[in-house]
Amino acid sequence: MAPEAARWFLPQTAYIHNLISVLLFLLLTSQTLHCYSDAYSEQEADRVAFLPGQPRSPKVSQFSGYITVNRQSGRALFYWFFEAQALPSQKPLLLWLNGGPGCSSIGYGAASELGPLRVSMYGTGLEFNKFAWNKEANLLFLESPVGVGFSYTNTSTDLSKLNDGLVAEDAYNFLVNWFERFPQYKNHEFYISGESYAGHYVPQLADLVYERNKDGNANRYIKLKGFIVGNPLTDDQYDSKGLAEYAWSHAVVSDETYERIKKVCNFKVSNWTDDCDEAMSTVFSQYHEIDIYNIYAPKCNLAQSSTAAVVDNALESSDQEQFRKRIRMFSGYDACYSSYAEKYFNQPDVQKAFHANVNEMHPGKWKVCSDSILRSYNFSVLSVLPIYSKLIEAGLRIWLYSGDADGRVPVIGSRYCVEALGLPIKRDWQPWYLNRQVAGRFVEYHGLTMVTIRGAGHLVPLNKPAEGLTLIDTFLLDEQLLTH
Ligand SMILES: *[C@@H]1O[C@H](CO)[C@@H](O)[C@H](O)[C@H]1NC(C)=O
Ligand SMILES: *[C@@H]1O[C@H](CO)[C@@H](O)[C@H](O)[C@H]1NC(C)=O
Ligand SMILES: *[C@@H]1O[C@H](CO)[C@@H](O)[C@H](O)[C@H]1NC(C)=O
Repeated sequence: MAPEAARWFLPQTAYIHNLISVLLFLLLTSQTLHCYSDAYSEQEADRVAFLPGQPRSPKVSQFSGYITVNRQSGRALFYWFFEAQALPSQKPLLLWLNGGPGCSSIGYGAASELGPLRVSMYGTGLEFNKFAWNKEANLLFLESPVGVGFSYTNTSTDLSKLNDGLVAEDAYNFLVNWFERFPQYKNHEFYISGESYAGHYVPQLADLVYERNKDGNANRYIKLKGFIVGNPLTDDQYDSKGLAEYAWSHAVVSDETYERIKKVCNFKVSNWTDDCDEAMSTVFSQYHEIDIYNIYAPKCNLAQSSTAAVVDNALESSDQEQFRKRIRMFSGYDACYSSYAEKYFNQPDVQKAFHANVNEMHPGKWKVCSDSILRSYNFSVLSVLPIYSKLIEAGLRIWLYSGDADGRVPVIGSRYCVEALGLPIKRDWQPWYLNRQVAGRFVEYHGLTMVTIRGAGHLVPLNKPAEGLTLIDTFLLDEQLLTH
């Protein structure tokens, strides 16, 4: 018998065995395919064909919609997702979070800073951003926590209970459920990024993913590789000390004010004394006249109705408790950027194309920052440095960057935070370059890289878009910044 023919004459048992395998295989694949096709139709339902006022070219592959994060309370978070500009199947997935607490990653991150479609002046339409961060990554923006932007809860009491723990838990559930809808991204490398108060959210979410990954549940496994944060609130003590020193060293306040702060303020305790409050209020009143988030930039003089104004009002309020809270407000966002986004995202045709506010579930106006969340947020975590130590040990790639013209979360405070980690230096502090100019400086430790962006304020991707893009691409590709 020719060997070829023999293959057709398998012993009976092997034949049956094979038949069973084939049937099993068909059954399993049909189930998997069924599963995938469910996800596929759900994700296609989230595809955004075209947004009002969007430029006709280049083409942008985008999705947006709601992901339920807690069935019991009826909590759902809203996202906006952009596939990478080229070869999305080969690029990592990058999540971006804004802070506040209470500010929208769609209003700021996506539509004003680093997204491919930014709201144009006066909110009349969208413009393509050639420095968008979806060059080397699939880019996901999340409005978090509930009560921010289009994200909502059906249990209104949730809104008075927001704290870092709940934010991280909901964001984690968001990720797990988002991957269900976009299973093709499940085995991509995953990174988390954000700025300002997301200096808390980002490492806390990374920590939760890291911990939950240990459960051994393959369905929920997330391929987290690292995180990167910009002008991040990290440690109350160092950030406050940095704020005071920055104001003095950048000629914002007098020697006397600074001496007084040094004398009466003990930033090691979170509860400032009345004397310290008073001394620090001198600093804030000076920053009232310029843009604390970008100290050399012209101040926005638009009539303000959003967070900046609320913060200012709180400053003037005589209520001490309110004042102490105000000190902790990190919103970091200027009404000049936000008013255009508010105009755009409140248009009914935009919301419809965006799959937002379906069935009017989100009551009232879409706002770039929620004042009430900022006021009611429970600031219970004073430092995320212990999480850094843990995740550095775990081998995650961790970068911290800082626009060096920010007075709110200044580079000095971030340097104290990084120093406090006590990491050995790998490459000394030195300049990095872009277009033959010093773009900033960086220092590489074993376990963490710190980068500054020269002349950028609190919102680095907005102030220095080319530098911002170079920075994120270098981080994602695990390369080195140019040193000549
Ligand atoms: C919230 O309530 C509305 C109205 O009952 C419902 O349609 C929606 O699905 C609920 N949201 C969640 C996340 O359960
Ligand atoms: C914070 O300080 C105020 C006034 O100095 C005091 O009344 C309050 O009990 C302190 N709170 C804590 C938690 O230490
Ligand atoms: C704030 O959060 C902490 C820690 O989660 C909790 O112990 C405390 O009761 C909360 N405070 C309020 C006012 O909700």
